[in-house]
Amino acid sequence: MKFTAMLCLFASIVFLFLFLLHSLLRFLTSGSGRLKFPLPPGSLGWPYIGETFQLYSQNPNVFFASKVKKYGSIFKTHILGCPCVMISSPEAAKLVLVTRAHLFKPTFPASKERMLGKQAIFFHQGDYHTKLRKLVLRAFMPVAIKNIVSDIESIAVDCLKSLEGQVFNTFQEMKTYTFNIALLSIFGKDEILYREDLKRCYYILEKGSWPKSSHLGGKQSRIILICSNLSWVTTGLTDEQIADNIIGVIFAARDTTASVLTWIVKYLAENQSVLQAVTEEQVAIMKSKEEGGEGKVLTWEDTKKMPITTRVIQETLRVASILSFTFREAVEDVEFEGYFIPKGWKVLPLFRNIHHSPDNFPEPEKFDPSRFEVAPKPNTFMPFGNGTHSCPGNELAKLEVLILVHHLTTKYRLISFCLFSSAAGLVLGPQSGIQYGPFALPQNGLPITLSLKT
Ligand code: HEM
Repeated sequence: MKFTAMLCLFASIVFLFLFLLHSLLRFLTSGSGRLKFPLPPGSLGWPYIGETFQLYSQNPNVFFASKVKKYGSIFKTHILGCPCVMISSPEAAKLVLVTRAHLFKPTFPASKERMLGKQAIFFHQGDYHTKLRKLVLRAFMPVAIKNIVSDIESIAVDCLKSLEGQVFNTFQEMKTYTFNIALLSIFGKDEILYREDLKRCYYILEKGSWPKSSHLGGKQSRIILICSNLSWVTTGLTDEQIADNIIGVIFAARDTTASVLTWIVKYLAENQSVLQAVTEEQVAIMKSKEEGGEGKVLTWEDTKKMPITTRVIQETLRVASILSFTFREAVEDVEFEGYFIPKGWKVLPLFRNIHHSPDNFPEPEKFDPSRFEVAPKPNTFMPFGNGTHSCPGNELAKLEVLILVHHLTTKYRLISFCLFSSAAGLVLGPQSGIQYGPFALPQNGLPITLSLKT
């Protein structure tokens, strides 16, 4: 009797084993070539949290560099609740973003989609995306933004004037500057009332405190009301599509550009020879305008005569790599560079890693704008992404920075500080340290003061 029971138990275990083996084989052989190619090397970390903490609690360079050293330029990990494949070679990043882009759709954390709205440009492919892209490009291409150089300049001058003589948080103030320019480029300079109203809505939205019981039916209705005067209304988009995309463009434009400006101020303050070269270039432009009787207002053509400052912007974009990576998702099982990427896995081209690889940029941690006197190798410099989703606002972003740097260096001296806690409360000291939120930023947003040059 005991023997029979043992036999039954043994048979059940064998049966269970065979069943599991069979299921596993079926799972592995379904889809395209699962057995032919392995998953990329790497670790998925802890259940659910994966390696999110390791990535976000330190300098992302340390996380990426240690993985690349251990596993090579394509490796798997698990962050923000999703299995991911990270890509750190320029050629493979181009495959994901350009050559085989149809296999990798854009995707973002659900919280971003909720805040911006499902109809925003970032989340789409195909005809709808093409239509939105044309619309956005029309507003931000050189031919359009040429006409607002003097308006941007007025915003820059007012912004800097309002900060004279006080200690201020560079990132916060630059956010106000870039927000005002984003609104100017969307609404034009005459629609001040709409601009202020939309600003209020955006702040509420950003805080996530929009009242659910609002009689306007939530943020969409309020923003639609504000946008109903806009030229975008004639484009055949629905009200919801217009509202989501206005919010989306502001979101894409404000913190990114403000963060680059904050880093530039820091690098200029820390590199006196670079600051001097930029100042001389900008003073020369100012003087040649005065002497030529052209008036003081900057023109689009003036901003094309700033090669040193342009290289400082390029080097800042490289070293700071504001967007460390972007998110894509495999739309089907994909064979990629000898590996298998399952449908639904996230795929992350690592801009920061590509920008910090000594193979692409010798002495990558050194801030050296002169390296851009020679064009970088193809696909190694992608601060604005690549392919059909690359940044349509890149010309505007560079213009905003050039104009602000012109006034900053010709009129002011920079002193940078750091606020830190002591027994006596918050005190000032020398600036150091980086904080890693969604963007890498100088500690405390870089508190500084500006004093007028005598
Ligand atoms: C220095 C500042 C900026 C940086 C570093 C930056 C970077 C980027 C990057 C890397 C992408 C591509 C993301 C991806 O492929 O998933 C992108 C997309 C985008 N950016 Fe920018 N951006 C900046 C400023 C701006 C400005 C000023 C605007 C608007 C005027 C803007 C509007 C957009 C939009 C609408 C997209 C989505 C394009 C699409 O999905 O087709 N950005 N940006």
